[in-house]
Amino acid sequence: MKHILRAVFLLVVALVVVACGTAVTPVFEEPDEEAVVEAESQVLEVAVQPTETPIPPTSTPEPTAIPATEVPTEAPTEEPTVAPSDPLVRLIASRDAANGEALFNQMYSELGFACATCHHVAVPENLIGPTMLNIREIAATRVEGEIAERYLYNSIVNPNDYIVEGFVEGVMPANWTDVLTDPEIYDIIAYLLTLEEDA
Ligand code: HEC
Repeated sequence: MKHILRAVFLLVVALVVVACGTAVTPVFEEPDEEAVVEAESQVLEVAVQPTETPIPPTSTPEPTAIPATEVPTEAPTEEPTVAPSDPLVRLIASRDAANGEALFNQMYSELGFACATCHHVAVPENLIGPTMLNIREIAATRVEGEIAERYLYNSIVNPNDYIVEGFVEGVMPANWTDVLTDPEIYDIIAYLLTLEEDA
């Protein structure tokens, strides 16, 4: 009897162990796999994001720092070299002032005027138009940022762009380019720049 009872007891124990073993293992396996997959994907997301964000902050300061160092080195070297080498200044300095004087006094029958009809050259008084005496100095102050040479050229070619205070628009003929070439206008400007009061 004892043998039979022992055998039955062992059987029961074996069944319980088998039953527990089969019942317990599937419960543990299922959540484990999901948890591992989830945990892995979270680890991948977390690992990818921090490596991407640090790159833009380190790359953006570099391009902004480069132009900041380039600008101050270029700006001071350009400004002083442009003004003295203005091509119009050099061009007019090379022109024939004596021919300009002749052209200034010449009567243009198409227009019915000479420049000298309306402009004094030797006295500070105005005629129909303002005097040309000391015009080099005066012309440099007329339009802000405009050198005398350019102001004088514009005053002859487009006289209505700037009207001298106290004078009326439309009195000075605006069609001088019909009777004068550009080189002739440069000669006249070269002459006007010589009109300075004797000290
Ligand atoms: C019919 C009269 C008349 C004739 C001709 C004339 N001008 Fe004038 N000019 C004027 C008047 C008026 C002004 C002032 C109004 C203005 O700014 O346009 C003037 C202004 C000027 C100025 C600007 C002077 C200043 O103080 O800023 C210049 C330079 C000038 N004339 C040059 C000439 C030259 C060069 C010619 C010949 C090619 C000429 N003018 C022919 C009447 C004349």
